[in-house]
Amino acid sequence: MKRKILCVIGTRPEAIKMAPVILALKQEPWVNVRILATAQHRQMLDQVTDFFDIDPDIDLNAMSPNQTLTTLTARLLLKLDDVLQTEKPDAVLVQGDTTTVMTVALICFYQHILIGHIEAGLRTWDIQNPFPEEANRAIAGKLAHWHFAPTEGARRNLLKEGVLDSEIIVTGNTVIDALLMSVAKDLELSVPVSPAKRLILVTSHRRENFGEPLRNICRALRTLAENNHAAHFLYPVHPNPNVKDVAHEFLAGLPNFTLCEPMDYAPFVAAMKRSYIILTDSGGVQEEAPAIGKPTLVLRDETERPEAVEQGVVKLVGPNYKRIVTETQRLLDDESSYKAMARGISPYGDGRAAERIVKTLREHFT
Ligand code: UD1
Ligand code: UDP
Repeated sequence: MKRKILCVIGTRPEAIKMAPVILALKQEPWVNVRILATAQHRQMLDQVTDFFDIDPDIDLNAMSPNQTLTTLTARLLLKLDDVLQTEKPDAVLVQGDTTTVMTVALICFYQHILIGHIEAGLRTWDIQNPFPEEANRAIAGKLAHWHFAPTEGARRNLLKEGVLDSEIIVTGNTVIDALLMSVAKDLELSVPVSPAKRLILVTSHRRENFGEPLRNICRALRTLAENNHAAHFLYPVHPNPNVKDVAHEFLAGLPNFTLCEPMDYAPFVAAMKRSYIILTDSGGVQEEAPAIGKPTLVLRDETERPEAVEQGVVKLVGPNYKRIVTETQRLLDDESSYKAMARGISPYGDGRAAERIVKTLREHFT
């Protein structure tokens, strides 16, 4: 009898990082793969499922405009309880640290369903940073049966929390599997940027940066754009109104600054490849950028992804006006600083994470 494994996706990064696992599981004769989209994100999730040709079996369509953590959580808990009662999977896979992950883990726990947590063990040890992700991943970690840790550091974090060594599998991060699938397509940059100009790619969406920190980031970007006409800035803006409104207020109308809608995954990878520097507060981009050799400044004070920082290819600059301006300018003006950060290392994975996750599940179920 085939085993039923339910793979859950809620937001853009979950779909990108779950896609390689779904595709690998679908090759296995012993498993009936089911895909549940909570659609905590709507358009940004659809962009990814279209790209990877993934068709959710169940879609909860949970997103509402400018949703609060409480309303989203409440909505998901109720919807998920019914779905999991009906589905009765042998195991559920979740990825990362979103509200989707936290609520699915809780319902699986209530219903005694085995949970595999992909990207387990990331920690800053500061419950407020990132908010609410540090709590979400700790809750999922408390309830999971398999902890698929991307790095040895993540494994050590889990051991510190009392997780059994036998339940931790260091796999690498599936984001690198996805990146390799996309990078092979070698797409053109979809946004017009003169080939003569250096491209500075920006993304920012973290909840703890809402308000004044995000304003500081945007002020710094404005100063940099005004002082560097030979550079072009590209910022695909997250649709959250707390981000979109501020980005447009500060950055619209600058001749060398393109604000655009969230980009499809493959064109975004093309933009990363074409970029000279990346400025981001994204988790996924922090993992991808070093693998394609792009110096990356992280618009946060802390990170749960310390490996690339320790190796000197990612630098934390916070949502701090002065540091963002100084460090970006240094990379633009000083070739040796630039070269030191543009080394192309991949501390987060080798592209075979999905294979290792599937192997663990195969050994358990067959
Ligand atoms: C969520 C995750 C965060 C992850 C991020 C990835 C939580 C609490 N946060 O944050 O960990 O890093 O996704 O991007 O789980 N919206 C749209 N269309 C979309 C997606 C979002 O319009 O396709 C707008 C909606 O107004 C929505 C709002 O963005 O209410 C916020 O979405 P939400 O998922 O709650 O938070 P994110 O900031 O996206
Ligand atoms: N990404 C994308 N289009 C964009 C910006 C980002 O496809 O316009 C991809 C990026 O390559 C990475 C993922 O989205 O794989 C990161 O998602 P996000 O920054 O929303 O969330 P986080 O990783 O911070 O949770």
